[in-house]
Amino acid sequence: MRGAGCTALGILLLASQALLCTSYPLEPPAEEECLEYLQKYQPRSDAALPLKYLQENTELALAARSVSSWAQDVPWPVFLKYVLPYASVDEPRDNWRPLFFQRFLPLIQDARSLSEAALILNEKIWSIWGIVFKPNQTPEIMSPFQVIQAGHASCTGLSIFLVNALRSVGIPARMAGTPEWNTKTGGNHDWVEVLTESGVWSFTGAAEYTEQGFNHTWFVPDPARHSLSGSRRHAIYAVSWADGEGTVSYPLIWHDNDNHTVSAYDVTEYYLEAARKHADARLTLLKLNDLPAS
Ligand SMILES: *[C@@H]1O[C@H](CO)[C@@H](O)[C@H](O)[C@H]1NC(C)=O
Ligand SMILES: *[C@@H]1O[C@H](CO)[C@@H](O)[C@H](O)[C@H]1NC(C)=O
Repeated sequence: MRGAGCTALGILLLASQALLCTSYPLEPPAEEECLEYLQKYQPRSDAALPLKYLQENTELALAARSVSSWAQDVPWPVFLKYVLPYASVDEPRDNWRPLFFQRFLPLIQDARSLSEAALILNEKIWSIWGIVFKPNQTPEIMSPFQVIQAGHASCTGLSIFLVNALRSVGIPARMAGTPEWNTKTGGNHDWVEVLTESGVWSFTGAAEYTEQGFNHTWFVPDPARHSLSGSRRHAIYAVSWADGEGTVSYPLIWHDNDNHTVSAYDVTEYYLEAARKHADARLTLLKLNDLPAS
């Protein structure tokens, strides 16, 4: 896998005359820092992963960082937290970076910004393998290779897939979700957040690309506006492995017991604010439409 990945990488880079290895030499200290970061913050259940896996993941994450100017502009601490990690929750650990790097880099070669590249990926990656949404997967189909093989996944599998696709080209991304909407119909949901060049998180539904771009999804303002900050069932969480800084644990609802393996932020307030903004925008539109024709 490693050999194949590197050869493919070399060919790709020759073909596209990309800048890797020339303008941004990779510094060994950066690689060491990445490995330390992963070993410190990876979920405890990953302790047995081979060092080789972490090394290859790191090499390709750094390579992605060096290919475009906008990836290079991602602040280093953000890179460590949201580009470097090789997984989101406790999905099986696949070696997805070589494949994703090779397949997705050409798609975004002409993208002028990080957010443009992110939207292109959410629009284009699904049809490559004919991947579609299918709810309630038992057993869960969640890792990238499982999803490719099955050709479908629930919102969780699709979100993990998109997070990895974004990270494979150097875009900081993370999975967000709620165990259960605080409404009569309930239901859980997961989606994806991208840290755009503005330095603010924006959100999108995996495989739910829309021309309106970020922050336009079916769940904001409703049902997200009923979410309850601090509630284990009804809050909205965003995965972040770097625990300790105000993090809680991400509810892994596919386990029988709530499983405290992966850390996350409670980001409910962000979505309540987004819901208010959408509601205000709608009201303004309604009022404009109400104006008597003169
Ligand atoms: C929690 O999840 C981790 C990762 O999947 C697993 O190793 C562990 O056994 C789980 N613990 C419980 C109590 O389910
Ligand atoms: C998405 O919403 C957040 C919070 O309301 C905002 O800060 C961000 O700029 C929005 N993103 C885009 C691309 O409009």
